[in-house]
Amino acid sequence: MILHKFKTQADLDRAAADLIISVVRSKTNAVLGMATGGTPVGLYKEIVKTYQQGLISFKEARTFNLDEYVGLPVTHPESYRAFMQRNLFDHIDIKPENTHVPNGNAPDIDAECRRYDEMLYQQGPVDLQLLGIGHNGHIGFNEPDTELSRFTYKVTLKEDTREANKRFFNSLDEVPTHAVTMGMGTIMQAKMILLVVKGQEKAEILDRTLNGPITTQVPASLLQTHPRVIVMTDCDVQYKVS
Ligand code: F6R
Repeated sequence: MILHKFKTQADLDRAAADLIISVVRSKTNAVLGMATGGTPVGLYKEIVKTYQQGLISFKEARTFNLDEYVGLPVTHPESYRAFMQRNLFDHIDIKPENTHVPNGNAPDIDAECRRYDEMLYQQGPVDLQLLGIGHNGHIGFNEPDTELSRFTYKVTLKEDTREANKRFFNSLDEVPTHAVTMGMGTIMQAKMILLVVKGQEKAEILDRTLNGPITTQVPASLLQTHPRVIVMTDCDVQYKVS
């Protein structure tokens, strides 16, 4: 892993955006793995700025989002499809048919998970996977557990995850209880992974991710075994190499 520390979130957003842009510049039809939540909003803004300056095109790029809530209409502003449209897709020249977000309203969720994996298998591997991290160490919505899933699956969200995401809804009751998420196998197949971690309150989980034992109880700790992970953070953490 390579750890880049930034003094400000603005600097971090710019550097993260530049890395994603550089991948698309070097491979116009790059496959990008996308994340939602609070963490990537600023870096998506930076990507949009660069696009508006005419310095990058996403015409051939393809995207696959990590996850989507189950049972939340796509028209709901907090659906991850709506989030992606609002924060990125509506402002760049990516073709709508090249943007993929799991369908959390599919009548047969298991079939939807298989369809998503099949598409990823056909079009992947992902060139750059963007990740945020939950306070409990989840990536995508792969929650801490005794086992982790390799493939896309329907997950029951942990109560602390629902609590953390309550800030985007009117109340905890409105936060969906389930989501569809890419599995750890797919995430780990990405050629390069960019983990963005913002806010000192995530320093402890980032330390466990970087330096703790590799355990399914901290799904992000599996990233220690990936050959190309770049961590960008404004947290005060160290990466211990011995
Ligand atoms: C979102 C996702 C999640 C978030 C994580 C952190 O697509 O996959 O793993 O990255 O829950 O969320 P924020 O950025 O809101 O702290």
